[in-house]
Amino acid sequence: MTTEPKRIVILISGRGSNMGALISATLDPAYPARIVGVISNKADATGLKAAEDFGIATQVISHKDYDDRASHDEAISAAIEQMNADFICLAGYMRLLTAAFVSRWQGKLLNIHPALLPSFKGIDTHARALSAGVRVHGATVHFVTEDMDDGPIIAQGAVPVGLKDTEATLADRVLEVEHRLYPLALRLVAEGKVTMRDGTTLYSNMNESDEKALLLPVGRSRETSDQP
Ligand code: GAR
Repeated sequence: MTTEPKRIVILISGRGSNMGALISATLDPAYPARIVGVISNKADATGLKAAEDFGIATQVISHKDYDDRASHDEAISAAIEQMNADFICLAGYMRLLTAAFVSRWQGKLLNIHPALLPSFKGIDTHARALSAGVRVHGATVHFVTEDMDDGPIIAQGAVPVGLKDTEATLADRVLEVEHRLYPLALRLVAEGKVTMRDGTTLYSNMNESDEKALLLPVGRSRETSDQP
């Protein structure tokens, strides 16, 4: 039995490199999802142009055009419904979502966060990881719940933190893992192997290679080493 690819809407606020990674993955005819639209809350988000270059429909729904968060989120919800989306991927979408929006799309809403949750929720994750002196850092794809960066974890990508790392070098290393992790996690969700139930992540029919996608491993690379 062949199933239709799932319809994905991506929400962005800026550069959109994770969006680009998701779009690239979905170009493979065997990938179980298609990107049907990209919505940005900012007109100057550079990711919009990249999406258009791929021939994907884009919309700007600026928060500045709405009186409050609730009406802005309602407008986004309506646009997503119009596109018949099965799942929504937040990819550098830098606005907090209302409880009403999260509840409307519960189990259908994914986010990527640049830290190994539950550590370093919020912003400036790389600077805080360096200050804390962690030796392992990374990224997390999770289902979105009402509390910020708090939903059930789907998959994580870990990277080593070297003694010479700066915020910029660490951000680059984490971003590279994000670009691999998000398409792998979305694939499992689109295939119905990963679902959210009662506030937890359920895994079903996972094979060995599926399970490998849940943790991209730490590898000590040359540029993070303090050895010559
Ligand atoms: C990414 O690192 C993403 O994990 C992060 O913003 C960046 C967006 O980059 N998201 C968050 O911090 C959300 N809490 P991109 O626009 O190039 O994908």
